[in-house]
Amino acid sequence: MNKRIIFSVATIAVLTFSGCSNNSKEESSKNAVTKAAEATKETTSEVANKAKDVASKTTEAVKETVNKATKTAKETTSEVANKAKEATNNNNEKGKKAFNKCVGCHGTDGKTKALGKSKIIAGQAVADLEKKINEYKAGTRNSAGMGQLMQGQVKDLSDEDIKAIAEYISSLK
Ligand code: HEC
Repeated sequence: MNKRIIFSVATIAVLTFSGCSNNSKEESSKNAVTKAAEATKETTSEVANKAKDVASKTTEAVKETVNKATKTAKETTSEVANKAKEATNNNNEKGKKAFNKCVGCHGTDGKTKALGKSKIIAGQAVADLEKKINEYKAGTRNSAGMGQLMQGQVKDLSDEDIKAIAEYISSLK
């Protein structure tokens, strides 16, 4: 080969090489951009997922708190209702017990005219019964000439007893 040809081959080789290297540089910077874009995408979606996670966790926590509060409120309500029921029942128990000494004349259902003289007391209004019993206790009521006899029956009853007994008699239907 002569010098000219060798030079040409060398030039081509250098050009090709540097072209190649230019190409690969371009490619690697392209790759870097792609990678950076991918990384950004990944990071973005990761952040989005984390945000979603936090949001759903927060929602869950709020839900749980609301549920707990609702449950507590429900429980408290039913507890209060039960206590109220219990109190009423107790009172009724008390009234029922106190009424035991009246059944001989007024009947277990309160529907007997006592000694053929009294009105039927079952189902009368609580306030009326309370008033009448208190009047017998005070000795100021005598509707059928037997007020004194009734005074003897109720003179030892406390206000509380009278209220309970009146409620019980009123509830008899
Ligand atoms: C020995 C029978 C007898 C017993 C026991 C008795 N009562 Fe009477 N009761 C009567 C008679 C009689 C009358 C009517 C009294 C009158 O002249 O006002 C009466 C009247 C009443 C009245 C008024 C009715 C009305 O509408 O005018 C009430 C209320 C009453 N009794 C409640 C009671 C209670 C409560 C007891 C028990 C703690 C009781 N009595 C026990 C005989 C009895």
